[in-house]
Amino acid sequence: MKILVVGSGGREHAIVQSLTNPLAIEHSGPLSEENIEHEVFTAPGNAGTAAFGTNVLIAADDVDALHRYAVQEAFDLVIVGPEVPLVLGLADLLRESGISVVGPSALAARLEGSKSFAKLFMTKYDIPTASYQVFHRSEADAALDHIRTQGAPIVVKASGLAAGKGAIVCMTEEDALEAISAILHDHHLGEAGEEVVIESFMEGEEASVFALTDGTDYILLPTAQDHKRVGEGDTGPNTGGMGAYAPAPIMTNKLLVDVCRMVIEPTLEGMRREGSPYMGILYCGLMITAEGPKVMEFNCRLGDPEAQVVLPLMRSDVAELFRSVADGTLSEFELEVADKSAVCVVMASEGYPDDYEKGKTITGIEGASSQGQTFVYQAGVTVDETGELVTSGGRVLAVTGLGVDLTDAMDRAYKGVEAISFEGHFYRRDIGEKGLARTALS
Ligand code: GLY
Repeated sequence: MKILVVGSGGREHAIVQSLTNPLAIEHSGPLSEENIEHEVFTAPGNAGTAAFGTNVLIAADDVDALHRYAVQEAFDLVIVGPEVPLVLGLADLLRESGISVVGPSALAARLEGSKSFAKLFMTKYDIPTASYQVFHRSEADAALDHIRTQGAPIVVKASGLAAGKGAIVCMTEEDALEAISAILHDHHLGEAGEEVVIESFMEGEEASVFALTDGTDYILLPTAQDHKRVGEGDTGPNTGGMGAYAPAPIMTNKLLVDVCRMVIEPTLEGMRREGSPYMGILYCGLMITAEGPKVMEFNCRLGDPEAQVVLPLMRSDVAELFRSVADGTLSEFELEVADKSAVCVVMASEGYPDDYEKGKTITGIEGASSQGQTFVYQAGVTVDETGELVTSGGRVLAVTGLGVDLTDAMDRAYKGVEAISFEGHFYRRDIGEKGLARTALS
């Protein structure tokens, strides 16, 4: 198959790797030419994706150029990694041109692109979520009054896409008032902050559940747990994600059955009734509360860094899996998943998620990959004029360890991390510990 992957992060590196022979992934890092069964292109890709195919210099949000290129090159399948091109309608353009695509239409992607739409939808279809109220920029004073009435802790979210920076968990009333002023008065998040959703705080543990759907049928990928806060013990500001593990022991079979019945099925049915059937990847960001699972957010794509732990567990042909999602033949697909655990630790630049320096030389990637069952997924990495790998982003790379259990996977991931260095790097040292604690209890 000739496949185009859209995006440039660690998630896209993991997608591109998973499209190669899945059994071979277990034994090596980048594969030799003869292992690669599909012709893979990535737009724009990164230094990591280049090892598995061809990078194409088209930005992930340039949907017209991506559409033209996909038609011109007659791709068999397009897999869209990030949310922005989906919200901008890339999947619609491709479908109209007869190209198979993994990703929802722009209308369906509103589940991620508009938090106010998602909350209204969940209320209408009785999908469990936190209670909430929406305020437009013109209603800033009412939003501030609402915070004063509700008190803290409370959650303030920009309704639009804000690259992982739009949800602010406020532990004090003062923080919440500041968040409202920053978004509504000072336009800190630009257009994404035209509206805010103010939600009640949910106590519990987070989990990510991914449903792949062709519009009629759906299947679940392994569950995962992300670590969104920058600091150990879930402290500090939210980030795009500092690490993940899969499967997540908190997601028992009973909870998964509940999530299918209470969240996934009503969402797919509701979107059909709304006239925008959902096709692609439905990422349910859940809080597992004392009252049961509740939706924190929906995303219209795979998570990053969750993709870096879920995809290495695939034993099925992932390209065929994605093709059956795009072509409506998912009911015929038998998903095979390894009976293993995966842990991914993100290495970030000092200062992230705020300002950070770029251009720091990265060493040790080969050493980390060569210890076996360890994969280094590149994100904020570029090649400088001397051919060296240097940092170019906040989340620089993600190291995934695959193990017979969570302890083994953590061990491999952290050994990989220790082999890699760049000036000012930092990472969380507790990725996987909540899973271990839960495993010990069961
Ligand atoms: N890991 C969170 C996200 O991908 O949105």
